[in-house]
Amino acid sequence: MSGKPITVDDFEEHAKYFLKKSVYDYYRSGAEDQQTLADNVAAFSRYRLYPRVLRDVSITDLSTTILGQRVSMPICVGATAMQRMAHPDGETATVRACKALGTGMMLSSWATSTIEEVAEAAPDSIRWMQLYIYKDRNLTKSLVKRAERQGYKGIFLTVDTPYLGRRLDDVRNRFQLPPHLRMKNFDSEDLAFSSKQGYGDDSGLAVYVSQAIDASIKWDDIEWLKGLTSLPIVAKGILRAEDAKEAVRHGVSGILVSNHGARQLDGVPATLDVLEEVVTAVEGKVEVYLDGGVRKGTDVLKALALGARAVFIGRPAIWGLAYQGEDGVKEVLDILREEFRLAMALTGCCSVNDIDRSLVRQNHICSKM
Ligand SMILES: Cc1cc2nc3c(=O)[nH]c(=O)nc-3n(C[C@H](O)[C@H](O)[C@H](O)COP(=O)(O)O)c2cc1C
Repeated sequence: MSGKPITVDDFEEHAKYFLKKSVYDYYRSGAEDQQTLADNVAAFSRYRLYPRVLRDVSITDLSTTILGQRVSMPICVGATAMQRMAHPDGETATVRACKALGTGMMLSSWATSTIEEVAEAAPDSIRWMQLYIYKDRNLTKSLVKRAERQGYKGIFLTVDTPYLGRRLDDVRNRFQLPPHLRMKNFDSEDLAFSSKQGYGDDSGLAVYVSQAIDASIKWDDIEWLKGLTSLPIVAKGILRAEDAKEAVRHGVSGILVSNHGARQLDGVPATLDVLEEVVTAVEGKVEVYLDGGVRKGTDVLKALALGARAVFIGRPAIWGLAYQGEDGVKEVLDILREEFRLAMALTGCCSVNDIDRSLVRQNHICSKM
């Protein structure tokens, strides 16, 4: 790649060149044939923007709130595991970048930095904890309690991963962490996904999930979780109206429309295509966010026009991290922010409250493709 990266895709090109192949494959891959992986991105181009003009857009305010916390823009960093494979500073770099930009970060349960290290790296930053429910419920409880103690502002419970999706590159690469890294929130070698364990011929992570993660969780477990903490709970990984309603009935404060970056079940719809269904189903009772395929400022605008309160980015932050650690993540967030600001201004929006459904229409020519 020549020259300075100026788009999220430029950052990915750089990462592809510089990261070890098995690491890049792990970050990039979707499940199986990766139909949904492509569709998450393609869905955004199935919508066209319908600008309003002559509305004085000389001053734009991008800020909003998430679970009651003000963020500088409706673009946050989602949970991606094992960030120290991309840069030695890993999650601590990401959280500092988010703090610098005034936005929030969701920390993966499978981070290569501890809950405490990430909190210390950026005190007073806006952080949420992503949670997997482990077979060991005391261990799960301790993750929640640690996050609460360290000032995380919400628990994003991942509901789409009773087993790990079949990511073919990871199977072929027999993916596991490099020996100098571990999932640092856990003490024991097996729960830390340590390479000392040995995971046979499969994707090491798929084996890890089948051994450690509780595949028996069901709706009642949200109540169990609510009994452990006063933090708001967000269901991460909802793709249909009935599940959204069920989540509301069980007392969540938010829903993240997500297909796990197309890494779980291939063939599920693009998240943008189901967003409106979920937004309609929850009738304004809880906040709805989206992740999956957000690569440009216009993507953010389209998601908000279809009812998302905010979006989360997964891979784009990793590409920034691989480029230049904290500064790289800052650059990615800065590019998305300025693209989003321009898209708002060019559609006649001064604040996120001006973004409404009338700004987007499905492009019927593209949707037949
Ligand atoms: C490398 C990678 C690791 C991820 N790790 C986690 C995780 O630990 N927990 C989780 O709930 N989701 C995880 N996800 C899913 C993301 O939180 C998010 O749903 C997804 O990345 C959004 O799609 P995008 O990458 O197209 O922005 C991961 C995604 C990627 C790409």
